Amino acid sequence: MTRSHRPRHHFALALTVALPLLLAACSGQYPNSTFTDLTDLNRDARGLWNLMIWLGIGVFVFVEALLVYVMIRFRRRPNDPEPEHVHGNTKLELAWTILPAFVLVIIAVPTVKSIWKFNTGAPANALQVDVIGHQWWWEFRYPEHNIVTANELYIPTGRPVNFTLRSADVIHSYWIPQLGGKRDVVSNRVNTLWFTPDSVGTQAFNGSCNEYCGASHANMRFRAYTVSPDEFDRWVVGQQATAAFTASAPAAPPAAPAAGGATTATPVAEQAPAPPAAPGYVFPREQLPTHVVPKTPIPAGLTFDENLLAAGDAQRGQQAFISCIGCHKVRGNPQAVGVIGPDLTHIASRHTIAAGLFPNDPRHMALWIKNARKMKPMGAMSMPTLGMGEVDPILKTAVTRSTGGLTDQQIADIVAYLMSLK
Ligand code: CUA
Repeated sequence: MTRSHRPRHHFALALTVALPLLLAACSGQYPNSTFTDLTDLNRDARGLWNLMIWLGIGVFVFVEALLVYVMIRFRRRPNDPEPEHVHGNTKLELAWTILPAFVLVIIAVPTVKSIWKFNTGAPANALQVDVIGHQWWWEFRYPEHNIVTANELYIPTGRPVNFTLRSADVIHSYWIPQLGGKRDVVSNRVNTLWFTPDSVGTQAFNGSCNEYCGASHANMRFRAYTVSPDEFDRWVVGQQATAAFTASAPAAPPAAPAAGGATTATPVAEQAPAPPAAPGYVFPREQLPTHVVPKTPIPAGLTFDENLLAAGDAQRGQQAFISCIGCHKVRGNPQAVGVIGPDLTHIASRHTIAAGLFPNDPRHMALWIKNARKMKPMGAMSMPTLGMGEVDPILKTAVTRSTGGLTDQQIADIVAYLMSLK
């Protein structure tokens, strides 16, 4: 090889390295990609996207080729006379008007068809889900089944699902990228969205708010689970049941703290009589893909004694839960009828808390109760800071007994109670 060939050789080598990298960028795992074939809506959108990309490539290649041809064919040569000056060419002008119009028609026909299909009401057999956007969490209501839940959506595969989108306050936007959609949730207006998760099995997906809605817009997430019709029916039965914890059980002495700090939930079943086995289905925790498991760090300076959690008493917790009943509902607990915050009837069956921000385990739940406003930026009307001695990030004052503060022991008891609400 001679010296003069080196640059070309280097270029070829660089291309050989870059090309696989470039191609690799187009494949692989994109857990929040909207280019999926998992629902009829996403398939239609993907089809339209592909059509437009290929037409765009065609137009680009045609125009560039024409440009290069004209540049070479009609380039200026030595001694060329002054080119002829012309104005107007009917044939050419007709061609470059009709050709783009033709391309637009090819795009418009399937586009209008899809818009028509997905904006003229869901099929009659669709599952109705009322979605209510709150600052900063999602409420899901299943009017057909009389179920209210929060931040975790279960939908059966193979059946259209029709979302009715409302806002309790400001404008939000509802989106599960892999299943399709993205639609604004507007105050004083009802929007709808429907699709059929027809090409997907039992899977978990991320959903989020996509319209800036205040301090915790980025923390207004949710999870969507597509499950088989049978799993969905079992989930419905479980959710329809009232909270499993029975308040009439005698309180047992607190369990001894586990050696080395327990990491598991309080063994509530040993303290209260076991409720009848709930037939309720819950998406298996071990099947959760890593991209739906929250990894939000805990703010510095916020701690909770794990030994206290191990000794939490669900019976006492239900009594201490009186601090929460003004905002939260727990069906089966006649005192807890609040509707400002999420319905907690089956809170223990959820995999996340704080609108998908933290995993639902005793430790995160305890920290959340202790100082939620530190865990997630919120407004003055939100979940209050409850931990005794904690400084409220909004009020800038420390929580005391007179302001309704809870001791770590009381919080541990409440956690034990909540973790019993399967
Ligand atoms: Cu709700 Cu952004």
